[in-house]
Amino acid sequence: MTSEVTENPLAASLMGLCASNRVAQAVGVAASLGVADELASGPRSAEDLATAVGAHPGALRRLLRALSDVGVFQEREDGIFAPTPLGDLLRSDWPHSMRGYALLTSSPFHRAAWTGLEHSVRTGESAFAHIHGQELFEYLPDHPADGELLNGAMIAVSGQFIAPAFAACDFAPGEAIVDVGGGHGAVLASILAAHPGTEGVLFDLPGVIATSGDQFRRAGVEDRCRKVAGDFFESVPSGADTYVLSHIIHDWDDDRAVRILASCREAMKPEGRVLLGEALLNEGPAPSRVKWLDLEMLVLTSGGRQRTRSEYEHLFQRAGLQPTGTPAQSPIFNVLEARHA
Ligand SMILES: C[S@@+](CC[C@H](N)C(=O)[O-])C[C@H]1O[C@@H](n2cnc3c(N)ncnc32)[C@H](O)[C@@H]1O
Repeated sequence: MTSEVTENPLAASLMGLCASNRVAQAVGVAASLGVADELASGPRSAEDLATAVGAHPGALRRLLRALSDVGVFQEREDGIFAPTPLGDLLRSDWPHSMRGYALLTSSPFHRAAWTGLEHSVRTGESAFAHIHGQELFEYLPDHPADGELLNGAMIAVSGQFIAPAFAACDFAPGEAIVDVGGGHGAVLASILAAHPGTEGVLFDLPGVIATSGDQFRRAGVEDRCRKVAGDFFESVPSGADTYVLSHIIHDWDDDRAVRILASCREAMKPEGRVLLGEALLNEGPAPSRVKWLDLEMLVLTSGGRQRTRSEYEHLFQRAGLQPTGTPAQSPIFNVLEARHA
């Protein structure tokens, strides 16, 4: 006879939350090994996959069955593993693949920064600087492999979630667009592809521009885009109609955010505009994953944060800009427009 005992569902829930870093790490390892790519041709055994990706068969099987428990793969009764729609997002050849994000969030430098969260919460300071001894954008040029991880993650996240909102804005043929801090160009490539006749400048730090790859060639817009290296605290390329700021202002405190916006105002044509894309924070207790993005900003930056619409409008005004509307929005991201005040 077997005695049935109950368990406290709340304790099980809390245990799951406490251990959720294991899921991130497991997803990242599957991404790094390229398991989803190997499953693209159909279900396979762990042994077969282990040979293909260069892993220990027994250990890989344990990874795959744990990931099947959260829907990333599917473990069949015969012990064969099959792809799932969720896991397909880890394929490197998938449109808007999320593989780059999985690689960043499981990487040692990113994980290490999060170990400093308590320092951030006690002091309000950057966990990243506390752990790594440098601010994020000072550290990355000295650690190019980690820089590539951030750039790959931004292609994934921005390409998936914010580029469609920017591409949905109105751009006239002949319009000149500067993507300020554009990273590897996921947003600018989407805008140029959606709006024939527009022209773009990808502007970022020298190390980022040097490794920015062939995003524009793959989007078929290479002939309408050039790349410029520089520092947006000094200046940005002048004379354009539109200055795109995607996931930029949330990296900085108010004073430095105003400096970046002022660089755009100083550079743009008199009738030009700024298009700022960010995940807006709503005050109050309603559930929102923006609250987690805000915590990421607390960890990674010194003074960066997600902001409410009125906080962005206040920054525009401080920089001599006038908020003029919301040309596009998605469930999380908003594109806010501002012009000369
Ligand atoms: C969070 S990423 C956003 C990238 C891109 N806009 C996107 O949405 O995917 C921030 C970008 O700002 C760039 N950046 C940081 N400091 C900069 C500076 N002083 N001048 C120019 N770009 C800078 C970084 O190199 C990085 O590409």
